[in-house]
Amino acid sequence: MPRPLSCSLALAFACLAAACGEKSQSPSQRADAPMTIEERGRMAFAACAVCHSVRDPEAPGYATMVGPSLYRVVGARAGHVATYDYSQAMRESGLVWDEATLDAFLENPQQIVPRTRMAYVGEKNADRRAALIAYLKTLQ
Ligand code: HEC
Repeated sequence: MPRPLSCSLALAFACLAAACGEKSQSPSQRADAPMTIEERGRMAFAACAVCHSVRDPEAPGYATMVGPSLYRVVGARAGHVATYDYSQAMRESGLVWDEATLDAFLENPQQIVPRTRMAYVGEKNADRRAALIAYLKTLQ
């Protein structure tokens, strides 16, 4: 019985195509999509946002918070905001905020910059640190 078989096959393909189409277009499906690493980092940054702005410190209206802005911090030298009053420890650390250095600092700030004024215990979860750094990289 070739005819009913090909009919039901065609139907199955039509259903599949419809299902696939729905998957790529429906907003509800997209809302369920896993977050990107940068998005996860932005969420984790809530713990930093109490002390850190992400705005350009040279833009009008910039207000200094407890910590320096982290705008363009990735790849910069420690103490990268000219108008911020860093601790001597941070100013003299000689560090450059590449990914590895940021990772170590965020895990244990006091160990990497002894006597830093950054009063933050550190993020022990490596995945969360990677997400934070991915987010910091977007602040260009
Ligand atoms: C309680 C406030 C506070 C929190 C929370 C905090 N920081 Fe900081 N952070 C500071 C301060 C203050 C400094 C300057 C430290 C110094 O001068 O020794 C700093 C410095 C830094 C620097 C060096 C910046 C530069 O210009 O060299 C980085 C990078 C940084 N913080 C990242 C983070 C991230 C990412 C988080 C969240 C996981 C975080 N901080 C949480 C207060 C905080």
